[in-house]
Amino acid sequence: MTTDYRFLKACRNEPVDTTPVWLMRQAGRYMSEYRSVRAKVSFLELCKSPELCTEVTIQPIDLLGVDAAIMFSDILVPIEPMGMKLDFNPSPVFESPIRSQADVDALRVIDPQEDVPFVMETIKMLRRELEGRVPLIGFSGAPFTLASYMVEGGGSKNFVKLKSMMWGAPEVYRSLMEKVTETVIKYLQAQVDAGAQALQLFDTWGGALAPADYLNYVMPYTMRVIQAVKTPGVPMINFVGNSQGLMPLVAKSGGDVIGVDWRIDIAEARRQVGRDKAVQGNLDPIALLAPISEIDRKVKEIIIAAGDTGHVFNLGHGIIPETPVDHVKALVDSVHKHGESHRVK
Ligand code: CP3
Repeated sequence: MTTDYRFLKACRNEPVDTTPVWLMRQAGRYMSEYRSVRAKVSFLELCKSPELCTEVTIQPIDLLGVDAAIMFSDILVPIEPMGMKLDFNPSPVFESPIRSQADVDALRVIDPQEDVPFVMETIKMLRRELEGRVPLIGFSGAPFTLASYMVEGGGSKNFVKLKSMMWGAPEVYRSLMEKVTETVIKYLQAQVDAGAQALQLFDTWGGALAPADYLNYVMPYTMRVIQAVKTPGVPMINFVGNSQGLMPLVAKSGGDVIGVDWRIDIAEARRQVGRDKAVQGNLDPIALLAPISEIDRKVKEIIIAAGDTGHVFNLGHGIIPETPVDHVKALVDSVHKHGESHRVK
C-alpha cells in the first residue's frame, strides 16, 4: 500500500516534490463527461450507484491530473436514512424540517453498513481502480452544517430557524447535534474501514457564527467527531467556510489539515493555525473564470505565501458549473509548476 503520495505527505507536513492539489467539487456539472452521466439518472440515483459514483470520481483524475480523488457523494446522503425525505432540484430540499423535540426524537442514528452500503461499496471499488495512482478522500458534513440543512429544510442565507432554535430552545438544538454527531462518527469510521485514505469534514456554514457561539454550539461536536475518528495514517482535513474570524478556534477543534477559504491570506491562516498542522486552500473558485494568465499569477502568490511544507492546494469552495475545463487544467499545471520551482532544493 502506497503511503508516500505527495498529498498524504503534505497532510503530514513532510517535504514534497511539488505542491499537491485537489479541488472541492472536482467532479461536477462543469465537465461534459459528468453531464452525460447525469443525463441518464437523477443526482440521488447517481449517489446510490457505486458503479456510476466510481466513474464520475475518476473523471477528474484522468482529465486534470489532480493529486487526490474525493469519493463522489453528497454530505446529505447519510441524513436521509436518519428519517428525512431528501430531494435535489438541484439544491437540496428536506420536505419536513426539524422544528421540535418530537422531530428530533423521531430521528435515528444510522448504521452505515445497513443504511448507506453503496457508499462503502464505492470506496472499495475506487481503491481497486486508484491503487498506485492517487489516494482516496472520504468525507462527511460536520454536525453544524448538516443540522443547518435539517432545520432550515435546505440552503439558507441568515439561518433564522437554526439560530432561533440554538438560542431559544438550546436543549432541542443540543439533542439534535448529539444524534447528528453520532451518525457522523459512525459514518466516517465506516469509510475508514472500507479504505478511505484521508477524510474531510465539511463545515461549510460554520463561519455564520460569532466566535463565542462557534465555541459554545459547534466546537464540542466537531472536536468529538475528530477525536473519535482519529486513525493513524488517515489524515483529517477540517474545512470551515468563512472561518477567517475563527481560525484559532478551528485549529483547536482538531484535524491534521485546516481548510480555509479565500477570505484570509494563507500566510496569516498558517500563522494562526500553527506549525504543527498543514493548511489547505485557498483560491476563490470564481477566479477560475479569470484569464489563465491571471489564474497563474494568483496560484504563484498563494504557493509563495503558504510556505514550503504542509500546504495542500485547493479552492476555498466548490467549482461552479460555469467554469471552463481548460482553466481548471491550467490551474493544476500552474500549481505543479510553481510548487516545484518554489521548493528549497
Ligand atoms: O467534491 C466532489 O467532487 C465530491 C462530491 C461532492 C458533492 N457535494 C457533489 C454535488 C461533495 C464533497 C459535496 C459536498 C456538499 N454538498 C457540501 C459541502 C461543500 C460545499 O460545496 O459547500 C454541501 C453544502 C452540499 C449540499 C449540496 N449538494 C448543495 C448545496 C447542492 C446544490 C448546489 C449546486 O451546486 O447546485 C448539492 C448538489 C450537488 N452535490 C451537486 C454535486 C455535483 C450538483 C448536483 C447535480 O448534478 O445536479
